[in-house]
Amino acid sequence: MKKFLLSIITLASLLIDSQAQDLSYSKELTKIAIGSCNRENAPQLLWGHINSHNPDLWIWLGDNIYGDTDDMAVMKKKYDLQKSNKEYQQLISNTHVLGIWDDHDFGRNDAGKEYEKRDESRDLMFEFLDVPKDSPAWKRKGGYQSYTFGEGDRKVKVILVDARYFRDEQLREGRSYVVNWEGDVLGEDQWKWLENELTDSDAAVHIIGNGIQFITDEHRFEKWANFPKARQRMLDLFAKTNPQNVLMLSGDRHISEVTSQYVPGYGMLYDFTSSGMTHSYESSTEYNSHRIGNLITSKSFGLINIDWSGYKPVVFLESRGTENEVLNGPIKIFE
Ligand SMILES: [Fe+2]
Repeated sequence: MKKFLLSIITLASLLIDSQAQDLSYSKELTKIAIGSCNRENAPQLLWGHINSHNPDLWIWLGDNIYGDTDDMAVMKKKYDLQKSNKEYQQLISNTHVLGIWDDHDFGRNDAGKEYEKRDESRDLMFEFLDVPKDSPAWKRKGGYQSYTFGEGDRKVKVILVDARYFRDEQLREGRSYVVNWEGDVLGEDQWKWLENELTDSDAAVHIIGNGIQFITDEHRFEKWANFPKARQRMLDLFAKTNPQNVLMLSGDRHISEVTSQYVPGYGMLYDFTSSGMTHSYESSTEYNSHRIGNLITSKSFGLINIDWSGYKPVVFLESRGTENEVLNGPIKIFE
């Protein structure tokens, strides 16, 4: 009987945990800055400009440092070096900071669930990001998190999905990444959590960030399209849960671009890739039939401006460079 009661209690606490709401804040978002691919020991030329925009929120989109190690003492040292950057310190003290990893800060180039130090590495990432200790994300495996900002009809839900901790093998043939037809990216627990986050969500804008490009499918590098079953599952989830105004964010590529795709049963979906804060793919001439506006091959950060003055939110996307100059945009979405 005692055993039976104990297992009921364990089951109940597991259920409560999986349904635990992630964090919400009343602060309204009108300006979000984003970026990725940031070597902690390289010249960091963008923070001053990012600070000058006084964003309400900063979102790291992965390769936030170049950890690339199994040694967690080395990983911690690299995070400490990044966190000691004076201008980054200024950002932290004025702005809400969120983030999710990609492969290099996860710990190994192109790695997925096979990386042995993923639990230790996750804790170091959450400490670097100052993920609040009362966030249910600490109790879960992996790095996925959700935050709701604003009130009433001006809510923005920021969902950070983890495309590393649970990801099946990324197959390669020489320099090319090849399709893993049956492979998964998020894992069952994270899929359930994500469905719960999107079902009946009353947010006016949903920002879903991760390291990997979601819409872009024509290049040979890492992309959600290398896992077509998982990619389709995400599209089906949008059609099933119908969240308002989804903007996906991605990093990883050392280029910046905005893409769009019509999703049957849902509507228009956008992906804003902002990548290459300390180094970029200068020689890229990559073709992308989904691209809106310019391909940016120089160092950049992204700005997302939300105009709440109309009957529905209108969002403008911009990429800016080392002189704070506009490289792409403003691109108007959710018209
Ligand atoms: Fe990456």
